[in-house]
Amino acid sequence: SRTVRRSADGVVEVGGVPVTRLAEEFGTPGYYLDEVDFRERCRAWVAAFGTDADVFYAGKAFLSRAVVRWLHEEGLNLDVCSEGELATALAAGMPAERIALHGNNKSVREIERAVRAGVGRIVLDSFQEIARVAHVAQELGVRQRVQIRVTVGVEAHTHEFIATAHEDQKFGLALAGGQAAEAVRRALTLDGLELIGIHSHIGSQIFDMAGFEVSARRVVQLLAQIRDEHGVELPEIDLGGGLGIAYTSDDDPREPQEIAKALKEIVGRECESAGLRSPRISVEPGRAIVGPTAFTLYEVGTVKPLEGLRTYVSVDGGMSDNIRTALYDAEYSVALVSRTSDAGPMLSRVVGKHCESGDIVVRDAFLPADLAPGDLLAVPATGAYCRSMASNYNHALRPPVVAVKDGEARVIVRRETEEDLLRLDVG
Ligand code: LLP
Repeated sequence: SRTVRRSADGVVEVGGVPVTRLAEEFGTPGYYLDEVDFRERCRAWVAAFGTDADVFYAGKAFLSRAVVRWLHEEGLNLDVCSEGELATALAAGMPAERIALHGNNKSVREIERAVRAGVGRIVLDSFQEIARVAHVAQELGVRQRVQIRVTVGVEAHTHEFIATAHEDQKFGLALAGGQAAEAVRRALTLDGLELIGIHSHIGSQIFDMAGFEVSARRVVQLLAQIRDEHGVELPEIDLGGGLGIAYTSDDDPREPQEIAKALKEIVGRECESAGLRSPRISVEPGRAIVGPTAFTLYEVGTVKPLEGLRTYVSVDGGMSDNIRTALYDAEYSVALVSRTSDAGPMLSRVVGKHCESGDIVVRDAFLPADLAPGDLLAVPATGAYCRSMASNYNHALRPPVVAVKDGEARVIVRRETEEDLLRLDVG
């Protein structure tokens, strides 16, 4: 995050609060989130896209009531993909018209809840769902604003950019073969639906702009096809999320202005050549907003050198608070933050306390050779998809999220307790 610095005594501070104080007051493991950084990133996205576009924060990256309030204050909209996320958004006062509902298998209950609440859009993901949402809306006597999620034949993950003719995955309706066009045809005939646009999300942790550009171009081409076939110009397109962040110094992320400029240019150009009015663009960044704003603070418990291999450093959390290393081979960095050290570098693997050997937090890192139990380690860039994917494996208590700002720290999601765990057991 942006307000990290090391003070004269060697202790790292974030938002003006020393990590040693955070550990004492709120404990380890814990997620510590820089609220100023979060708000600045929100503002950067809103400013980059301007008033003729909309930014929807992807709640799956991390959502809490405090986060919803910050988003609201900073002028963002919110993408939710489950009833739980919808409930959190509404409970924290996000106006329903600024919420988009996603998901490839929304239940009738979820759809009813969203339509009743008056969400600004539902993103449709299958033929069944087109009929289902139309039915619910009609029963409730409303015309629900919807987008259709299409798969443009571009799959962009991590550093790779692969254009595939046909996609083999569960989301969306394919442009290739005419599924997407058929979905549009159906949606346009149903009274319960107001089709406002086309949606495309091509992947996550992407650095290469080319994938976004191909996606934007193909979505605009579909708009032209819809105009030709039905005589309607859909007013909106959503180009999804996916902008990558720096987990290690090898990553070179793009700024929101770069993606805004690239998307607006390509959409503008394609529309001009097709004779279309430019649609209103929206995007759905999750990771790029919240990812860099938080780090996980751990305490070292054991240090175990394996002769000729590496040193295993066990911390008091692990795969229950960060599954990404085990699940995606994700790379993280780690630093000793409770003191400085003049000791030489020691090839280390930072592991958790769970009962399996795949419980790795940071696969390869150099830590000072005098590392010892009681030292505090910070793993940066854990704001996205860590607390939101945390589990109770081994009956771990999920760590708190603590927001720091101007020398103050406050809990925005409290640590779980044994009572929380036991409350679910019946009998
Ligand atoms: N919009 C849609 C429709 C999405 O499916 C996603 C992410 C986003 C927006 C936000 O993408 P972002 O800007 O955060 O990359 N658990 C994985 C990431 C899964 C992303 C799923 N969809 C991880 O930890 O890397």
